[in-house]
Amino acid sequence: MASSAAGGVVIVGSGLIGRSWAMLFASGGFEVKLYDIEQEQITNALENIRKELKMLEQSDSLKGSLSAEQQLSLISGCSNIAEAVEGAMHIQECVPENLDLKKKIFAQLDRIVDDRVVLSSSTSCLMPSKLFAGLVHVKQCIVAHPVNPPYYVPLVELVPHPETAPATMDRTHALMKKIGQSPVRVLKEIDGFVLNRLQYAIISEAWRLVEEGVVTPCDLDLVMSDGLGMRYAFIGPLETMHLNAEGFLSYCDRYSEGMNRVLKTFGPVPEFSRATVEKVHQAMRMKVPDDPGHLAARRQWRDDCLMRLAKLKSQLQPQ
Ligand code: NAI
Repeated sequence: MASSAAGGVVIVGSGLIGRSWAMLFASGGFEVKLYDIEQEQITNALENIRKELKMLEQSDSLKGSLSAEQQLSLISGCSNIAEAVEGAMHIQECVPENLDLKKKIFAQLDRIVDDRVVLSSSTSCLMPSKLFAGLVHVKQCIVAHPVNPPYYVPLVELVPHPETAPATMDRTHALMKKIGQSPVRVLKEIDGFVLNRLQYAIISEAWRLVEEGVVTPCDLDLVMSDGLGMRYAFIGPLETMHLNAEGFLSYCDRYSEGMNRVLKTFGPVPEFSRATVEKVHQAMRMKVPDDPGHLAARRQWRDDCLMRLAKLKSQLQPQ
């Protein structure tokens, strides 16, 4: 269990992402206080976390070395933010993606925290320089962007404000490792961070290939799920290059000219035309009808697959 001298963790916003963070921190043995502006959200979050942890324990997928009951005993709700942050060493903000709202929360926290706590935002795409502008405790501020669902997808992008202290980055990196996540240091802020820039590059070319009638929407998805995605769950695109020839230099010697030629045919950013929106929409609905029941069932299946993949990855140690 984490030492209580280390201080606890506060989650601000008990929605989808706040709940996941609470479970992850508790799995690492940290005391967690869940704060929300809506008391009902806190009550629902605690209930939902109880169910999830029990289910994970039953399926032998619970993270950490503590039992579900022990992890649950570490998580409590708190409806007073000043009380919640008392003695905390890490505050993870998880309120809706709205710059003004998040700025308001950080300004509020800035007035009540000490010089030791890390102030971290889960934002998917707001720039740290905008989010933390003008805060007295800016050196202690960082973005820790998780990937949904964070319990099964361990990546966390750590993105600093230009004035974030290196120690804040190091502490947050160590904390993420301690709770079993896989942090990456984004060395300077950029719109979309790294994960979404890669994701959008893929969406952009996927869009063009479907729009131009090169491939159907369902076959396009298969290229990822049964092709590129199979290896990308274990090695990234750069290591793929290294392994697909006699090392990275050999790959570049053999293939850079071809890559350059193909890349020049990519064209401008798609306009996301209505006609293509309709075409993809029809294909997706044939596969998974877009009513809440079918969508929830498919998400549940996806999370199940991710949970099994996470287990497999933890069994397969890198050579
Ligand atoms: P959500 O809507 O599920 O939860 C937001 C929670 O914040 C709600 O419980 C709401 O009552 C609470 N809240 C609103 N105003 C508040 C205030 N002033 N003080 C305290 N609590 C307040 O949102 P979700 O999906 O959990 O997203 C949270 C953050 O995580 C967003 O910045 C989002 O971009 C980011 N994120 C979301 C991902 C996703 O797939 N949903 C993935 C990665 C990051």
